[in-house]
Parts: sequence; structure tokens; C-alpha cells
Amino acid sequence: MILLFGFGGVGRTYAELLYQRTSLKLCGVFDSGGGVVKREGFTWEEVKALLSAPRGGVSRSGVGRPASLDEALDVCQVVVDVSAPNYDTGEPSLSLYKKALSRGLAVVTANKAPLALAFREVAHRRLFYKATVMAGTPLIDLLKGLPPQRVTRVRGILNGSTNYVLTRVYKDGVSYEEAVREARELGILEPDARLDLEGIDPAAKLTIVANTLGVGLRITDVVRRPVTPLGPVTRYVASLEVVEKRAVVEPVRLPPEDPLHVDYTMNSVEIATDVNTIILKGKGAGRIETSYALLNDTLKALESLQN
Ligand code: HSE
Repeated sequence: MILLFGFGGVGRTYAELLYQRTSLKLCGVFDSGGGVVKREGFTWEEVKALLSAPRGGVSRSGVGRPASLDEALDVCQVVVDVSAPNYDTGEPSLSLYKKALSRGLAVVTANKAPLALAFREVAHRRLFYKATVMAGTPLIDLLKGLPPQRVTRVRGILNGSTNYVLTRVYKDGVSYEEAVREARELGILEPDARLDLEGIDPAAKLTIVANTLGVGLRITDVVRRPVTPLGPVTRYVASLEVVEKRAVVEPVRLPPEDPLHVDYTMNSVEIATDVNTIILKGKGAGRIETSYALLNDTLKALESLQN
């Protein structure tokens, strides 16, 4: 039984796929206006009614009983966080994870902020976060499968919206301003576009990658330079030198033959280890891709509660 914290685009897609692809149920749904809880789980008919509620209107939907998060934690086993990131404090998610984990629940998240700000405070065998980085492409699972190989360097195009903007400018010849406007209209830029254009989102992802590799970085340790078109081969690259603990997000002139090159919203990453160099390319953080990553982590979260 799943407590869904956040009911925007990803939350709604996750809810639909949860009922279509698994036999699991939601037992609580919260958005910015409050939440509803049902001990025996919501039926698909009830979820459909919730899906037609306006943003922020879950607690007034007439579906289930308006309730507090504390009540929801008593009823549910897995918290799935798809709320918007708060890069100032990580709240309210940070406190929610701590409370849920201490009460024996598992946590699955697509929200980068709590991990980018306080990875070590929330790292736990019942915390699952592969939807936070390259959601559609399981980078975090891959990194966890590498030891005892030693990762020396990671380079990646980890932000799909800025890659879309740069591709539109250099491949299709539209102006930078027009490309940013398009990305906003397509809904692929964060509501606060600075998160993408000033590199906060890829810096958060790089911080999560670093911590997954045991490098105790915080987002404030990542050097960030905003997206600036430098010429036809500009890409917005996040790179981590593991031994030096050096993390940078910056526009880079990437030769066309560089394996990191991908177009539009695709993501890519190169992982250099002491025995191998691995290239991974695929879809990043679309709603459907993120929802599938969350669903896979939900199944893992439930398994983690068995042992
Ligand atoms: N704006 C982000 C991106 C969304 O384009 O990659 C997911 O973090």
C-alpha cells in the first residue's frame, strides 16, 4: 500500500500506471492542499476521481477522508515522493523521509533536493532513488553494480531540457530565446527555469551520483556555470573526478565524435573505472519514464520490507 506525496504530472502518471501494471494500491494521496487516506486502499474508480481533481484539490475531492500525513504513515508501507524540489531546505520531504524510515516504512523518491542537500542523513537500505537521475535509464542501478571496480570519473548530459535547447539552437537553427520558450511551452523546463538554465538540477543529479559512489558531496560543492551557447558543439556537461572530489556543471565544446553527444531531451553518461569505460544513453526524466523508474523502485521497496 502506497502513500503518494505529490500529485502533479508525474504523480498522476505514476498513479495510473500503478493500477494498470501492478496489483498494488494507493492508501494515501497528498498534494499541496492536503491529503486523503483510505486504510483498505483506493479502488481504481476512486483513483480516477482523484485524477480529475484540480491541482491542490485532492483533499476536497470527496474521495476518502481528509487526513494528516501522520495518519497516512500508520496505514501505508511505502512513501513515494513526487513533490517539487525545495533546494533551500529539502523540506517537507526531508522530515517525511526521516519519520517514515524511523517508523519502518520504505521511501521511494523522484525528488532530488533532500538527497542533494543531505544524502547521508537519509541514506538507508529502505530508501530508493533511481528516478532522481536519468530516470528512464537506470544509471543508479548500474553504479550500484560496479564495486569492487573503482569509478574514477563520471561525465554526463544529465539535463534533458537544456540539451533540448542547445540542440534546437545548433541543429535546427532557432534562436536561444525561442528554444527556451519552446522548452517552457513543452513543459520540459522546470517551473523555475533557473534550476535547469543555471545548472541546479544537473548539479543535484551529480551530487546524488557522487554519493552513490561513496563521495560525500553536497550540492553546494558543485561548481556551476550557466548554460551559454559556445558554438555548434556546445553541450551542458556534468563531470565528477572521484579521487579529487571535483564536481562541475558547465557548457563544454564537445567534439562531434565524443560519445556523450545526444540530441534533444536524451541523456547520456560515461563512467570510467579502473577496468572499463561504460557509455549509457537513453531517455531522461519524462513523466512516463520517471513513473516506470518509480514503479520498479516501489517493487524493490516492498521487497526490502520482507527482510
Ligand atoms: N528539467 C529536468 C531535465 C527534469 O530536463 O532533465 C528532470 O530533472
